[in-house]
Amino acid sequence: MQRRRAPDAYAGAEAERSQARFAPEEVPTHVAIIMDGNGRWAEGRGLPRLAGHRAGTENIRPVARCFAEYGVKHLTLFAFSTENWTRPEDEVTGLFDLLADVIEIQTRELHREGVRLRHLGRLDRLPDSLQASIESSVAMTKDNDGFELSIAFDYGGRDEILQAVRRLLAAGVAPDDLDEAKLSQHLYTYGVPDPDLIVRTAGEMRLSNFLLWQGAYAEHYVTNACWPDFDRAEAIRALEAYRGRRRSFGGVLRDNTD
Ligand code: IPE
Ligand code: IPE
Ligand code: MG
Repeated sequence: MQRRRAPDAYAGAEAERSQARFAPEEVPTHVAIIMDGNGRWAEGRGLPRLAGHRAGTENIRPVARCFAEYGVKHLTLFAFSTENWTRPEDEVTGLFDLLADVIEIQTRELHREGVRLRHLGRLDRLPDSLQASIESSVAMTKDNDGFELSIAFDYGGRDEILQAVRRLLAAGVAPDDLDEAKLSQHLYTYGVPDPDLIVRTAGEMRLSNFLLWQGAYAEHYVTNACWPDFDRAEAIRALEAYRGRRRSFGGVLRDNTD
């Protein structure tokens, strides 16, 4: 995806000028997005909440393409949390149907573009047919080495850590043999670098159980725009905010040591 020249209206001279303003090291390798505000977007238009979720789903491709054009290699999208099961049943099943549609409509094209799809979260509680289509889209794209798109669906950071600890205990790992690297190997994100930038739409300033382990040193960026309104200009603003951050990872920045 990242090498293809997008045919959309937004590509062209202006997009190229904008991308040229970012040196490669100023671009986050991994962006993770808490796609919030679909309900508010719909309510503001007098529409049912599911119309907001549908609009949000349609926003995934253009935003992924924009980040890929700027050199982001991994994009993780929080689509359904372990707490979202508490929503009304028709909203939950509507979200399952939307994911199934997206997989059916988009997997082949993403595969052609060299995108690797990953799923983060529990599979075992999802309907059988959805489990099968998630597994087949992940299997179809597993050898692609282009852009990586991870969908966090029935994902919770606490549950992820709990499942990892359970597997480690079941494998008989001795307490002294357990370290951060070994625990990381049992997380859904194994092989994916930690997120550099966590974006949240719709204004709330919380993680809502997203990437608790992996986000230890992520930069945060919150916009008031609801997810269906998070367009190319919004994505570029998030990248610009990231470019202005100074990350010291608990140390002292080099130009600050004397
Ligand atoms: C985010 O939008 C999508 C999911 C959590 C599934 P919301 O549905 O949470 O939208 P708001 O927060 O009610 O506006
Ligand atoms: C977080 O949004 C989960 C997803 C975006 C999938 P929520 O809307 O569920 O989070 P809270 O309830 O505002 O914390
Ligand atoms: Mg919400």
